[in-house]
Amino acid sequence: MSAAEIGVIGLGTMGAMLALNIADNGFSVAVHNRTAARIPEFLEKAGDLAEKITGHAELKDFVQGLASPRNIILMVPAGDAVDAQIAQLRPLLDAEDMIIDAGNANFHDSERRANEAEKAGIPFLGIGVSGGAEGARFGPSIMGGGQPAAWDRVAHILKAISAKYEGQPCATYMGIGGAGHFVKTVHNGIEYADMQLIAEAYGVMRDGMGMDAAACGAVFDQWNEGLLQSYLIEISGRVSAATDPETGTPMLDMILDRAGQKGTGRWTVIESQMLGAPVPVIEAAVVARNLSAARDLRLAGSEAFGSTADAMPSGALSFGELEQALIAGKILSYAQGFELLTKASADYGWALPMAEIAEVWREGCIIRSAMLNDMASALTDAPERNLALAPYFANILKANMAGLRKVAVTAMGAGQPVPALAAALNYFDTLTSARTTANMLQAQRDYFGAHSFERTDNDGAHHGPWLDQHLNG
Ligand SMILES: NC(=O)c1ccc[n+]([C@@H]2O[C@H](COP(=O)([O-])OP(=O)(O)OC[C@H]3O[C@@H](n4cnc5c(N)ncnc54)[C@H](OP(=O)(O)O)[C@@H]3O)[C@@H](O)[C@H]2O)c1
Repeated sequence: MSAAEIGVIGLGTMGAMLALNIADNGFSVAVHNRTAARIPEFLEKAGDLAEKITGHAELKDFVQGLASPRNIILMVPAGDAVDAQIAQLRPLLDAEDMIIDAGNANFHDSERRANEAEKAGIPFLGIGVSGGAEGARFGPSIMGGGQPAAWDRVAHILKAISAKYEGQPCATYMGIGGAGHFVKTVHNGIEYADMQLIAEAYGVMRDGMGMDAAACGAVFDQWNEGLLQSYLIEISGRVSAATDPETGTPMLDMILDRAGQKGTGRWTVIESQMLGAPVPVIEAAVVARNLSAARDLRLAGSEAFGSTADAMPSGALSFGELEQALIAGKILSYAQGFELLTKASADYGWALPMAEIAEVWREGCIIRSAMLNDMASALTDAPERNLALAPYFANILKANMAGLRKVAVTAMGAGQPVPALAAALNYFDTLTSARTTANMLQAQRDYFGAHSFERTDNDGAHHGPWLDQHLNG
């Protein structure tokens, strides 16, 4: 076989599917895996597509099997594995050969790798790939970062293998260095928020309204016909309807209520704090996962205090109000995610294409939803405006905030935790406060640390009348 157009290293869940997708789109692809035994297994499963794929047990043969200048996708776990793989590859590569890290890298690592590559005069791309195994196989959403020329070199392949929204490829160049992986990180942070909001609505139905899983599933199915139409609502309906083949009971009821959190959700929160761009709904979602993981503590708490949650009085909440709560919560969490992207774009000098970010998420990725198309329109009109203030979404919020407020207050009144819904409500109430209570914070800071404050009636830095009294006793 002649030299392959592109190479993939790492035939795990994502790499294997991505290699098949590349072959399926007519490109010849060379593959390599650390554990060589996986290569023949993969080629066997590839069926007819194996004609477009060459497997190489040795890294140097893999490199030799690629057309120059080489383009090599890494699909290995983020972190040390990527650095180790790059270190092994570099001595085998020529100056124009390009490494493309397609895993879920921390964007700081991508920045460092891009800088190192630039100093060495060699091309490097960090691309965020979303959509799980199915997306990787049949069309993921791809967020690219690195030098524009490096992106241009492989854009035709990445666009071909990406998901399509009304024929438009969901593969977009985001900016230099770690921009692609930053956008992917925030995507995942929003994914955490979306999932937690849905889980809280399920909790209200299950614990507050006494509904079984199948009944909850029917409500999700119904919501999927309206403004909430999205992949995550769709699969929430499906998992709620599923039966455990072993016990015959609803599958959901057999799943332990303990969730972990990997890098990207946590990184979104850390970056938001570093940049001073709050994402409280995403933060609540990450915290909720951590608390869910502390099962022993929760069991001890439940034993010590008894359950604090009561069923809600019959008719306390309607499904319409619950749907409203999710609609408002979703808009507010996306507004926070895009605010974070806007702040990062300015601070890191990326010029992130806000509307195109919403566009690239419309298909292929886990957070794909009908609403993203309207978000893309709102961001086209005003890329840096908070989404909650865009007229289209402001009108939706006006129509749905009463539902969010009622659901959050009713659930909390009944002792049911709804941290993400409550965070969304508090964000909205703060966002709409012309006067917060930060004047008290400033007074306290000036009292104990002479930090000074701004006055409402006068420019400049001022102190309160307490400093002399305080310091002189
Ligand atoms: N799974 C998803 O839904 C998803 C979605 C988006 C992004 N991602 C990201 O995609 C990347 C790959 O994920 P995955 O789910 O495909 O992982 P996976 O199924 O665990 O596969 C990992 C692959 O990396 C190889 N590998 C592990 N450590 C290595 C090392 N030190 N040096 C060289 N190769 C090494 C493994 O080779 P061996 O066969 O030798 O172990 C295997 O081929 C990760 O960054 C992940 O976060 C995953």
